[in-house]
Amino acid sequence: MSFTESDIKKALSFVIEPDLKKDIIELNLVSNIKSDGNKITFDLQISNPAMHNKKRVVDACELHLKRILKAEVELDVSITPIPKQPKKPAQNKFLPNVKNIIAIASGKGGVGKSTVTANLAIALAQKGYKVGLVDADIYGPSMPLMFGVENERPQPIEIDGKNLITPVESYGVKLLSIGFFADTDQAVVWRGPMATRALTQLFTQANWGELDYMLIDLPPGTGDIHLSLVQTVSVTGAIIVSTPQKVALIDARKAIGMFKMDSINVPVLGMIENMAYFAPEELPENKYYIFGKDGLKKLAQENNLPLLGEIPLVQSIREAGDAGRPAILQETSAQAIAFKDFAENVVVAINARNENMDPTQKVEITNMDGCSPQK
Ligand SMILES: Nc1ncnc2c1ncn2[C@@H]1O[C@H](COP(=O)(O)OP(=O)(O)OP(=O)(O)O)[C@@H](O)[C@H]1O
Ligand SMILES: [Mg+2]
Repeated sequence: MSFTESDIKKALSFVIEPDLKKDIIELNLVSNIKSDGNKITFDLQISNPAMHNKKRVVDACELHLKRILKAEVELDVSITPIPKQPKKPAQNKFLPNVKNIIAIASGKGGVGKSTVTANLAIALAQKGYKVGLVDADIYGPSMPLMFGVENERPQPIEIDGKNLITPVESYGVKLLSIGFFADTDQAVVWRGPMATRALTQLFTQANWGELDYMLIDLPPGTGDIHLSLVQTVSVTGAIIVSTPQKVALIDARKAIGMFKMDSINVPVLGMIENMAYFAPEELPENKYYIFGKDGLKKLAQENNLPLLGEIPLVQSIREAGDAGRPAILQETSAQAIAFKDFAENVVVAINARNENMDPTQKVEITNMDGCSPQK
């Protein structure tokens, strides 16, 4: 005597998947049902196929089969895990067409955040990605200078009845900075709510269009701009810039701590070591570790973070920044190669983050307790 497939399914519809809390037939987790005499075989997917879970589900199947079929049955169930669904990218209310928002931060000032961000943006654009860059350093914007567009102004555009501004484009990167709207001297005196409102507008009132990566160059430290950023958009991940110097590392640790706080909760994708060693332009293979060696590697390891790149200290990186033509454009130079390697590692780290974690939720802050940076 064999049992019919529909009777077997009816019995199995009483079995509840332990994690998903619905029956295994409704969830379509049973396939390949066969029966021969009192032997029943089928394939079953469950979300957590740990030993105790498997046993629980098979016991439940046996119980209900015996009960519904009113017979002794011999079961042979092949259990596999439910395949992971690809994670959906975060949906940003203001930026629905921006796939990844990446914050570049440091604890200490002057370690090269803006230099690293500018070169990373151009490296990603050179790889064919659509890239935007927000200069969130309201108090000291440096991107218009680094991209050689100090005298340009974002143009107004009307889209669906809304007045927006169009980012300035340079070296294939769409750019917005408060530096386009105010004299640099004037920007310095911006305070608190006014500064954060200005930052919010760079996201919400601009015509960014479709972007693969939006990079955000943050001011140094762990202050109110950081907080207002995570309340405005869903930040995919943060990259921490540091030099190998002890004082910079202490502050980098604080920056990592800030992103890990419950009230911020942005995954840190990795660290980048800037000014890793001095390399004279004429003898680039001679490396002088003037700020120390291996400190950043250790900090990254301690925090289980990848080291995404090492950028040498070379005079032409500084000169290139000041001249509005970032060093990545010096095609075959050691520094351009270092920035390109870094960009590749960033893409890998973002992909890994998106595969393994849910999208970051925008922070809804109703009370400010617990928002002070970690010591
Ligand atoms: N690898 C490097 N080699 C040589 N000069 C560099 C390098 N990185 C940055 N610089 C120079 O160091 C100075 C500070 O860099 P940058 O402005 O990028 O730092 P920052 O962290 O953004 O500073 P801030 O905290 O003020 O925003 C700049 O003059 C820049 O050109
Ligand atoms: Mg800067």
